[in-house]
Amino acid sequence: MKKTKTQRFKETLGIDIGTHSVKVVHLKKLHDGFKLLNYEIRPTMPQGVEYIPSDLRAERYAPVLIEILKTLHISPKTVKHLVSSVGGDNTSIKQIKTIFLPDDELESALFFEAKKHIPISGSDMVLDYQVLSVEEKTNNMNILLAATTKELLNEHTNVLVSAGLTPNLVDIDSLAVTNSFALNAFVEDGVYVILNIGAHRTNMVIWGPDSKLFARDIPYGGYHFTRDIMRRRNLEWDAAENHKFQWGLEDDPGAASKQTISMLDISEKNTEDLIVEEVRRALRFYVKEAGNSDYRKVCLMGGSAKLKGLCEYIQDKVNIPTEVFMPFINVEMPEKFQDKKDPQLALAIGLAMRME
Ligand SMILES: Nc1ncnc2c1ncn2[C@@H]1O[C@H](COP(=O)(O)OP(=O)(O)OP(=O)(O)O)[C@@H](O)[C@H]1O
Ligand SMILES: [Mg+2]
Repeated sequence: MKKTKTQRFKETLGIDIGTHSVKVVHLKKLHDGFKLLNYEIRPTMPQGVEYIPSDLRAERYAPVLIEILKTLHISPKTVKHLVSSVGGDNTSIKQIKTIFLPDDELESALFFEAKKHIPISGSDMVLDYQVLSVEEKTNNMNILLAATTKELLNEHTNVLVSAGLTPNLVDIDSLAVTNSFALNAFVEDGVYVILNIGAHRTNMVIWGPDSKLFARDIPYGGYHFTRDIMRRRNLEWDAAENHKFQWGLEDDPGAASKQTISMLDISEKNTEDLIVEEVRRALRFYVKEAGNSDYRKVCLMGGSAKLKGLCEYIQDKVNIPTEVFMPFINVEMPEKFQDKKDPQLALAIGLAMRME
């Protein structure tokens, strides 16, 4: 959302600093499209150390980023086009409609407008906007507002600077998620639900090529799936984590019978149900807000999209075709990466594909 300079460039770097893993995607710009040069995913905690969202501090990210750049043989000072993003409670995006305003009035008018729509205090707010369209009949403007706080932006910039990088474009997570999807899916008419399921939160975006964009974060992710397994199966964190990777939502045939587990489990809702509830609620809201319920697909991305059985579970409960999204349609993949398509990279790819 913040642009400090625009340059011509041949290569681009997308950096997604997640609380669980840092993801970096290095693309080469082709005449038409992109080619994957390399990528790296690295956890923010040392191997075997439990991930606890409240323990995570921004100082952890720069050393991980430095290691990734070394592995990718990228010297930070030579990076010309870098796109990264911020997310969470202190970010917000909202699509609004206003009467037509000329360019010179737009910025100040939108600042006041944003204060009405965006839950960030005015003096702390950094605002960006994009005019999506001007309606022919009414002359009304459809505008996408994106806001964050100065503090969050500073914290993010510090991580990049500590890794030797020069911050350039900074996006908002849910916009990067939408970008990744819009540029890499066969999008027809209708409305799509995108869920970027991370470690402690899920970015939910509801969007269609001719329909309003709605974004909201759901406060659940991979961390909560691990906690469910710890609770249900009475396992320590590392055993639960192993169980999660091996079995996901499926039952380990060697473990206690399903009936015993569900009897123990009666008092608390599972993470998958909490996510489904939030999605259903958002879909109902969207119909009222956007007047469109032509839902075509739910697309899962992020590390927890790989959780076995989750895609099928969501499809069954939400009743919309659901798939794990592989963000590589418009990114040429060299042979050595062909079997390494990974939905955990989706956001970083959306960032790397952003031009300005
Ligand atoms: N194969 C897999 N099966 C199940 N879960 C997985 C798998 N691979 C990664 N995960 C989970 O995905 C999560 C990490 O995903 P991701 O990198 O998208 O999160 P993040 O961006 O760091 O988190 P956040 O956005 O919440 O800050 C972790 O909870 C991890 O356990
Ligand atoms: Mg994330």
